[in-house]
Amino acid sequence: MMAGRRPVVAGNWKMHLDVQGAAALARDVVRATSLARWCDVAVMPSAPLIAGVARVLEGTSVEWGGQDLAAEAQGAYTGDVSAAQLVSLGCRWVIVGHSERRKYHLEGDDVVKAKTVRALGAGLTPITCVGEQLSERKAGQTLHRIETQVRFGLGGLAPADAERVVIAYEPVWAIGTGETATPAQAEEVHEYIRRLWASMYGDTLAAKVRILYGGSVKASNAAELMGQKDVDGALVGGAALSANDFGEIVKAARV
Ligand code: 13P
Repeated sequence: MMAGRRPVVAGNWKMHLDVQGAAALARDVVRATSLARWCDVAVMPSAPLIAGVARVLEGTSVEWGGQDLAAEAQGAYTGDVSAAQLVSLGCRWVIVGHSERRKYHLEGDDVVKAKTVRALGAGLTPITCVGEQLSERKAGQTLHRIETQVRFGLGGLAPADAERVVIAYEPVWAIGTGETATPAQAEEVHEYIRRLWASMYGDTLAAKVRILYGGSVKASNAAELMGQKDVDGALVGGAALSANDFGEIVKAARV
């Protein structure tokens, strides 16, 4: 982390909890993070749980967002959630192109790009995810894979959007596996993404864009990961379901 970039700690609750459980967790997250003024803190519940969570978080320092959005503005898209609907729920954030969306819903970089642009246009801050498979890492193709995802999923943005978008590096082999990238492995990719951003959008925007790490972030490894120069926060899955653990990760984001 570097002074000048405000850290982000975001909790991806994935397809867990129900209305009551989500509201209870949101209350506990407020308590566990109430003194955190040094970073943006947000939680992303499943779409049907957002309204209840919003009622709890309204007026607190914890923000909320969606886990996905439709690329289209509105229309006959059964089951999808629009950017405007998220905005009407008070969302400030939305995760885009998570590897679970890429895997189970076959979202490619073109869809990721369209969703990212849609989110930005609606005033949401997208957290757009990139990350290599284990086989790609083993084959020495990590940086090549990341470059493709960043260029095709996040290329051609307006400068103001290229500053606002948040990128999450989530190596697929580290998600939900308990196996975390080492701080050096994370930093290598984060630094690469920032250099790529410089080549796409210039040095000034590259110095400003926030790049989060995700993949088995825990209270015990968060400080070391976020202590890396180009790691500006965390996208937390499993550990975000414990308010205490999530609170510890938020504390670790203090520069
Ligand atoms: P875990 O923290 O459970 O590995 O999940 C990471 C993730 O996918 C966050 O989006």
